[in-house]
Amino acid sequence: MSLSPRIWVLHGPNLNRLGTREPEIYGSATLNQINQMIEEKAKALDLAIDCFQSNHEGALIERIHQAEQSAVKFIVINPAAFTHTSVALRDAIASVAIPFVEVHLSNVHRREAFRHHSYFSDLAEAVICGLGPQGYLAAIEFAARRIAPHRG
Ligand code: DQA
Repeated sequence: MSLSPRIWVLHGPNLNRLGTREPEIYGSATLNQINQMIEEKAKALDLAIDCFQSNHEGALIERIHQAEQSAVKFIVINPAAFTHTSVALRDAIASVAIPFVEVHLSNVHRREAFRHHSYFSDLAEAVICGLGPQGYLAAIEFAARRIAPHRG
């Protein structure tokens, strides 16, 4: 039996506050609930999934560096505020040859101008924003097809 392809989901700063953080923008689901939905979807698609959240730029960078040696086939990342600020996190994801999708819960283009620029979008396979937690599930479905098209 072949091993399930490994996908990592990375959540950036303040996403551990989901559920109580500005619910009119981010909804009422907690990060645990979102991770549970992600894990169920991954199980249905026979993917090995790991979800990781950090409020620290360096921790996210080091996690990305570990992805190659961990045989990660695809990354789904919501860099949160680092989307708009972090050249270092961009350089980290550019340094590993792993395709990724950028996800945002909110539609960043309908919000403040400083959220309209992303340091990740031009490197990403795709960008999903405004779908709420559903965006992560769409990204994982895409990843499943992208890394193993023969599995349907
Ligand atoms: C976010 C959008 C970012 O602008 C913001 O800083 C976040 C969350 C989103 O998921 O909508 O923290 O990435």
